[in-house]
Amino acid sequence: MSARRVLVVGAGVMGHRHAVAVRAVGDQIAAVVDTDLARASAVDSGASTYTSVQEALAQEHDLDSAIIATPSAGHLVQSTELVAAGLDVLVEKPHRVPGQDPALLRDALRTGGRLFVGMSTRHWAGVKAVVSAVADGELGEILTYNDRMQFHLEEDSLPGWYFNSAVSGGGVLVTNGVHAFDRARAILGEELQFHTAALKRVNPSHETEDHASVIARVGESTIASIDMSWVPFDPIGTGLIVMGTRGTARIYMDGSWSISAIGVERSGPSINIDRAPFISQWTSFRDEEAGFGLDDLEPTLELIEQIYQEVPVV
Ligand SMILES: NC(=O)c1ccc[n+]([C@@H]2O[C@H](COP(=O)([O-])OP(=O)(O)OC[C@H]3O[C@@H](n4cnc5c(N)ncnc54)[C@H](O)[C@@H]3O)[C@@H](O)[C@H]2O)c1
Repeated sequence: MSARRVLVVGAGVMGHRHAVAVRAVGDQIAAVVDTDLARASAVDSGASTYTSVQEALAQEHDLDSAIIATPSAGHLVQSTELVAAGLDVLVEKPHRVPGQDPALLRDALRTGGRLFVGMSTRHWAGVKAVVSAVADGELGEILTYNDRMQFHLEEDSLPGWYFNSAVSGGGVLVTNGVHAFDRARAILGEELQFHTAALKRVNPSHETEDHASVIARVGESTIASIDMSWVPFDPIGTGLIVMGTRGTARIYMDGSWSISAIGVERSGPSINIDRAPFISQWTSFRDEEAGFGLDDLEPTLELIEQIYQEVPVV
């Protein structure tokens, strides 16, 4: 496969992280877009820089791929423009924020490039192992599923736009929830149904929720409990635990994992969670791996939209 010529849109934390993955497999960052040109220049010294997607598309005629890593509310319009221009696009999650209508993107996908949504946690080795173990029946019938995506967040450790719902689409429920519900759907199946939830603003200066506790269910016997938190202390015991009638699987926040079931013992080491999953994800994007397109991820956002509609932030 020949080296891809990639446009990176958004030169913040994630733009840099994706650029590392692109270079790691021998592809080239050809151009970078950021409203701040100094930031754009810092991503790759060999890349051309632009302040808008339109400007980059007008000047660059041999791009084949784009990565979108801008604040979330811009993803839908930028994806639509880049897909319509015929590029294959890896868009950071969420591919749109709650309330935005993806109809124009759907239209662009009929005739343009393809869309792959960046769900980095699904590219963790442990998540892949648990998806397979559950699909192969190694854990038996799943009884309980506990996912705790809980982070110690110091004041100012995230850019301010994360707490402005007009830009982020909401708080921890959408920003981390897209990962949590995406992997719950990948492990437990498409029948995951919202049951009840509580949304709480922990930091009173935030407009958006910092904590979300969600109970979902699959069929008659599986309960999924998913907690997402940004808190000003070190939350203990975060990670994923799945227990079935034949065994248990665990994934820790450092990426290490274990599966212990009748006749099955497997485990994996910790990983560099800021690097390894992004290289694996870029490889999946290049290989056109199924499961990360618009229609695969829309139900996750619809579930989050349902929770925002039914549950007040208190
Ligand atoms: N997959 C993951 O693990 C993960 C982790 C963190 C963030 N994210 C997602 O990545 C995205 C980016 O997050 P971040 O933390 O890197 O944000 P950031 O604020 O660090 O970077 C965003 C960059 O986009 C630029 N920008 C803003 N508006 C722009 C526009 N209209 N056109 C071009 N550039 C523009 C900003 O100047 C900034 O450099 C978000 O959607 C976030 O949800 C994903």
